[in-house]
Amino acid sequence: QTGLVALDPGFTTTASCTSEVTFIDGDAGILRYRGYPIEQLARHSTFLEVAYLLIKGELPDAATLENWVARIKRHRLLHENFKAFFTAFPHRGHPMAILQGGIAGMATYYEETTQRVRDPEQQELQAVHLLAKIPTMISYIAKRSAGLPLLYPDSDMGYVEDFIRMTFGLPYQRYDIDPVIVRALETLLILHADHEQNCSTSTVRLVGSAEANMYASVAAGVGALSGPLHGGANEAVLRMLTQIRDSDLTVKDFVEKVKNKEDGVKLMGFGHRVYKNYDPRAALVRETAHEVLDRLGSGSDLLTIAMELEDIALSDEYFIARKLYPNVDFYTGLIYSAMGFPTKMFTPLFALGRLPGWIAQYVEMINDPVNKIGRPRQVYQGATRRDYVSLRHRS
Ligand code: SDX
Repeated sequence: QTGLVALDPGFTTTASCTSEVTFIDGDAGILRYRGYPIEQLARHSTFLEVAYLLIKGELPDAATLENWVARIKRHRLLHENFKAFFTAFPHRGHPMAILQGGIAGMATYYEETTQRVRDPEQQELQAVHLLAKIPTMISYIAKRSAGLPLLYPDSDMGYVEDFIRMTFGLPYQRYDIDPVIVRALETLLILHADHEQNCSTSTVRLVGSAEANMYASVAAGVGALSGPLHGGANEAVLRMLTQIRDSDLTVKDFVEKVKNKEDGVKLMGFGHRVYKNYDPRAALVRETAHEVLDRLGSGSDLLTIAMELEDIALSDEYFIARKLYPNVDFYTGLIYSAMGFPTKMFTPLFALGRLPGWIAQYVEMINDPVNKIGRPRQVYQGATRRDYVSLRHRS
């Protein structure tokens, strides 16, 4: 349904839909998945448990969770033909473009499933395929761009742990994985898992409203997320911090450039369409950044710049007046970089994190009895009626 939701006199917003998945209070800095506070899930849950919660609406009991994890483990291999798919792209092609193509292409392996988008069993199968195969796909894309051998999934390992192994491990040597790094990545994936009607999720809903299958709809969401004002911001933050470090600009000089809007430069990782005080995820990501960078002893120079930027911005009237605070992207790039992910892989990591939310919102939309094809209207501001002028009479 689309309609005006009057929140208080003079402040109205157009609600694009109703949903039971995620609640955000932008003023109070509250984020809850199916009613559970993000702070508790980030500390106590796992990514696959949160995925189940978002998609099914309830926390699973032990047996259900075990079956859910086992089912996803069984589907983690990609069809061997997919290897040729990755060689079709330029070596340095941006991973988000390749990921978008790969996810859309998954539908060609499951034609029968994609014809029955309203069948709950087929919806769950598509969800399992996506959750199971996208980490493998992202690790293949990372390895391919580095010219390194691909690794198959190892079903004896945990979901996040094995994703790290496939991405960084090599066939001829043991790859020891630090449990602190695994937990940090698990936390980041949980923090990204859903976020109400953000640009990419709204895209998934809109494409799915035409009864396009889940693979096609999620692939469209990947396209939206790749934008630097949305998921691409985590990559842009690291570039911004690196530019400051490698220039002769002080952090204060850079902030002045932002305030003067020189060359349209923005403080990437700051600001939010909804959070007008603080993004509750940013505090948890900052905490994780300190843990990881202390553990790995790297990236501290950029962390120092990030913290100085944050201190200056949070005490500067320009940012306070515009309600600009760090968002989820401000510190995540620092962590991913310290973990060894190339900058171009940051947004695919955001896509992996957001996957459960995209799936949950697709399923909620497609099962909505009054679901109608998304067809936003417009306020026309173009030319009024006029008659055709032949070429020889045009000046
Ligand atoms: C994500 O929607 C979601 O939930 C998204 C997300 C999710 O989980 O899915 O939370 C993930 O996308 C987080 C946002 C990541 N993007 C960035 O960090 C890019 C930098 N941020 C800006 O592009 C911007 O803050 C937005 C787009 C995120 C939000 O813009 P707003 O709040 O609508 O602000 P606006 O564009 O209306 O600008 C208001 C004023 C303007 O100045 P004035 O014209 O009033 O002088 O604030 C300024 C803007 O120039 N401004 C900034 C700024 N963001 C807004 N100035 C400097 N740096 C910034 N980052």
